[in-house]
Amino acid sequence: MASFFTIILGLVIFLAVAFVLINVYLEFLGAPFVPTFNNLDEIFKKAKLKKGQVFMDLGSGDGRVVRKAVKNYGVYGIGIEINPYLVVYANLAAKLENLTNIQFKRQSLFEVDLEKADIIFVFLKPNMLKKLAPKLTKCKKGSLIIAQGFQIPGWDKYLVDKIERKVFSTYFYKTQV
Ligand SMILES: C[S@@+](CC[C@H](N)C(=O)[O-])C[C@H]1O[C@@H](n2cnc3c(N)ncnc32)[C@H](O)[C@@H]1O
Repeated sequence: MASFFTIILGLVIFLAVAFVLINVYLEFLGAPFVPTFNNLDEIFKKAKLKKGQVFMDLGSGDGRVVRKAVKNYGVYGIGIEINPYLVVYANLAAKLENLTNIQFKRQSLFEVDLEKADIIFVFLKPNMLKKLAPKLTKCKKGSLIIAQGFQIPGWDKYLVDKIERKVFSTYFYKTQV
């Protein structure tokens, strides 16, 4: 019996250490898991989310942003996340909330196809946004890009709106209208 608990405890410790190491690695790359705590409804209302639109979060974390957009605005939600723990959590949370038009995939945000997205949400540090920017300019015509917390470097010409806050403002961009 004692060995059963030792195995379970060992497994839990292993999984916890792996989770911390993944986040330390992502912190080093420029995008650790920090959830959006700002008022999402304020952001979604400004973005004028409409039923049936495709909403994509690049680096979706625990899936809170996509889940809320699907639940409250009837969009089709896609979350792209590199951390497998967070993908499992987000899919489970969506299931428990009975959300159907939603999927969370374990994939690098640099490899994802942006073709179908009407709204692209990002909460990433500037160095990562800079690297992602050329890909974002190739998104579908008319797509809205929401950058939470940080401006996309060199994109002032594409800025269409913003919500200013003391900490973590939100920036809205359109590359083609
Ligand atoms: C600041 S968090 C934002 C989480 C979520 N979007 C939110 O606003 O609550 C950034 C997320 O990006 C993920 N991430 C970092 N690099 C990534 C990559 N190359 N591909 C996909 N996701 C990545 C991290 O694991 C983390 O969950």
